[in-house]
Amino acid sequence: MTGWRSRRGGPIAGLSDMTDGGAEARIDTFDWSLMPREKKKAATETVEVIDLSAVSQPIDGDASGKNLLSMHQLSADDIAIYLDEAYAAERAIRDPERRGVPLLPRAVMKAIMRQPSTRTGGSCTSAMRKLGGSAELISGMSSSSEAKGESLADSWVAFATQADLLGIRTAENGGPAFAAQVIAKAFEYGQLVRVVPVINLGDGHNEHPTQALGDLFTVHKKFEHFDGLVITVVGDQERYRAHHSLMIGAATLGMKIVAVESPAARVPRALVELLGDRLTRTGDLDAAMHETDVLYLGRNPDEYTGEDPAEIVRAEQLARDYASWIVDYDRIQQMAPDSMVLHPRPRRDELDPSVDSDPRMKDVEQMANMIPMRMAIIARHLGASIARSA
Ligand code: CP
Repeated sequence: MTGWRSRRGGPIAGLSDMTDGGAEARIDTFDWSLMPREKKKAATETVEVIDLSAVSQPIDGDASGKNLLSMHQLSADDIAIYLDEAYAAERAIRDPERRGVPLLPRAVMKAIMRQPSTRTGGSCTSAMRKLGGSAELISGMSSSSEAKGESLADSWVAFATQADLLGIRTAENGGPAFAAQVIAKAFEYGQLVRVVPVINLGDGHNEHPTQALGDLFTVHKKFEHFDGLVITVVGDQERYRAHHSLMIGAATLGMKIVAVESPAARVPRALVELLGDRLTRTGDLDAAMHETDVLYLGRNPDEYTGEDPAEIVRAEQLARDYASWIVDYDRIQQMAPDSMVLHPRPRRDELDPSVDSDPRMKDVEQMANMIPMRMAIIARHLGASIARSA
């Protein structure tokens, strides 16, 4: 597989505020009061610019023991390995004699979802069980010792003593990266006997890399290649994390990206610079649909809308744009017969149920594909290979 390569080891958090400098990122939305008490003063004094290079290494063909925090970590060759592993996982799942592959007996995963989830957490636990390990889904933190005043950092260290792999979703940009940093520090201090890999299961309005890998798997299953395919991404380009990760991955693989955007929620500057001439921006969904191989919709992530007057104006504009972007049975007829429509779900009005029977709709298959892809991710980051075990 060939194609344009992303900037390796680049910034993770705060796409809308990314610096251009290698491994440094500005995390404006992260709550630094969550740092361990003895570190809090130092962390806030150094302004919120932190070096993420130690926790966001390029995968470079070897994911074992590494965190997966951003699509920036992956080259085209890296993505190709995840795809090969996902195909092998799918063969194992579909074999009625096997229903999976017992590659990781006694391995333990915790999927810690600090924002609601129907798909991601559940598919991670299914994936780990299909690899022969065990998995626990922890939704919300109301039953955590945070309720007794424990810092979030201390909670991450506690979870790291209990599992071989942590999947983490947070409302804050950079939340999983923060967990990875805390775990690396605890290892450095001799508190932990090993570093437990952290997988980003969605961090605020920043990234959702495991979703993007599953999306790319779905595209590859249909077209068997990426180079030159046109993907049209529709929605809040500023705050919809699945769009960010997918655009980075699609560009890495040589796809052309059309962003249908609202004037209120444009593609972040850092992504525009990163994607270069692979990216076209437009407000005309219908024109884009005629020319697209993959139409990728996403809901309005209005849980991030603030309360100041500018946010209200933004929300009103965006609501009008989402209303004009609704894809229904009539509209989908503009697309080529061999094109496809994806949506990471949950959906709202932007994807009308009248399209559900259309053969171009691959969004439910996309959901199912997340299990073999997350099996691939879990196996690789724990140093195993499904393809080699088959
Ligand atoms: N696609 C996705 O992340 O869905 P959930 O929010 O239900 O996990």
